[in-house]
Parts: sequence; C-alpha cells; structure tokens
Amino acid sequence: LLKIIICLILGYIFGCFSTGYFVGKLNKVDIRKYGSGNIGTTNALRTLGAKAGSITLLGDAIKAVIPMMLVRFLIFADYDFVELMTMYTGLGVVIGHNYPFWLKFKGGKGIAATGGVMATFDPLIIPIGLPLFIIVVAITRYVSVGSLFVAVLFPIWICIRHPGDLHMLIVALIFMTLAFIKHQSNIRRLMNGTENKIGQKVTIDN
Ligand code: G3P
Repeated sequence: LLKIIICLILGYIFGCFSTGYFVGKLNKVDIRKYGSGNIGTTNALRTLGAKAGSITLLGDAIKAVIPMMLVRFLIFADYDFVELMTMYTGLGVVIGHNYPFWLKFKGGKGIAATGGVMATFDPLIIPIGLPLFIIVVAITRYVSVGSLFVAVLFPIWICIRHPGDLHMLIVALIFMTLAFIKHQSNIRRLMNGTENKIGQKVTIDN
C-alpha cells in the first residue's frame, strides 16, 4: 500500500503542472474565462489556436510519461508489480491534472494525460487508439465524444492485453470514471445539442 501511495503522490505532483493554464498566461489570457472554461488541450486550441493547443497536448501527455518512466525504470524497476505501480503513477498524474491543489482543485478533464498514460503503459495502443480517436472526432465533430471513447477504450484494452488481471482492470475503470465525472457538463451539452464542435473559435475580449 505504501508503494501505491508513493506512486500516486509522485504522479500527482507531476499532474499539477497545468500546461494549458501556463500557455494561456504566456499569452496573457486566463483560458478558464473563455470557451468551456477548461484548462485542457481542446479549450487551449479553441481560445488560443493550434500552436497553444499542441503545446498543451504535448505538455499534458509528457507529464504522465516522465513519472511513469521513473517508476518503471528507476524507482520500482525490480519490483514484481512494476506495471501496476506504473499505472498508479499515471492515475496520480490524472488526479493531479484534474484536481490541482494550487488552482483550488479546478483542473482539466485529464484526456491528454490519460492518453500519455495509455501510451507509456502500452505503446501498442498508439497506432490503434489514436486513429480511432481521430475517426470518432472527425465523424461526430465533438472532441468530448472522442475523449469519452478513449476513456472507455482503456479498460477494454486492459481486458485484451492483460486478461484476468482484475486489479489492473479496476485501475483502468477508475481512469474511465474520472473522465466521465469530468465530462458531465459535456455530456449535458451533447444531450441538449449545445456542445461545442471542433473548430469553433472563441473571441478573446482584451
Ligand atoms: O479533453 C477535453 C475535451 O473532451 C473537452 O474539452 O473544453 O470542450 O470541455 P472542452
């Protein structure tokens, strides 16, 4: 249990690096006041453009890669359950991203970070998950639908690649649940037809 807590805390510290918020500040914009009010990739793209969106995506994904690599290859490298510990570290990252203490626990929705976790955990998911995400977004025009699709894909992926590993499946289901909790407002907007479509821009009034 102590090892799990160490992993969660290490991940949380990295997760608290809110890339979108910093990218906004560098552009003298508080992106929490525009668009969906989220500090993630989609809202950075919406309010500040493609460059800001890409930096946010990269930053939020890399902040998952670094602590997971540390755990896998340095901290718990010889430990039998290193894969599980790596996953718990990723979980800490997503919790830190979604609930950063220094932004009064109001963070992002954790999809770029979850993508980083999935890719680090099992790189084989990249050539399968990424095209599927792009197809879902291209068809629906909603990033949030693609995001929820990615969230559902994680536990399915674990079932396929680690059949019978209940502990790992439970952790993947927690990732999925966190994504759904954070997308409640998106789900509401999708149901009443007011969700933002990809490509919709936001005007900054300063
Ligand atoms: O990953 C976040 C995305 O699914 C939705 O972002 O800004 O439209 O709420 P947003």
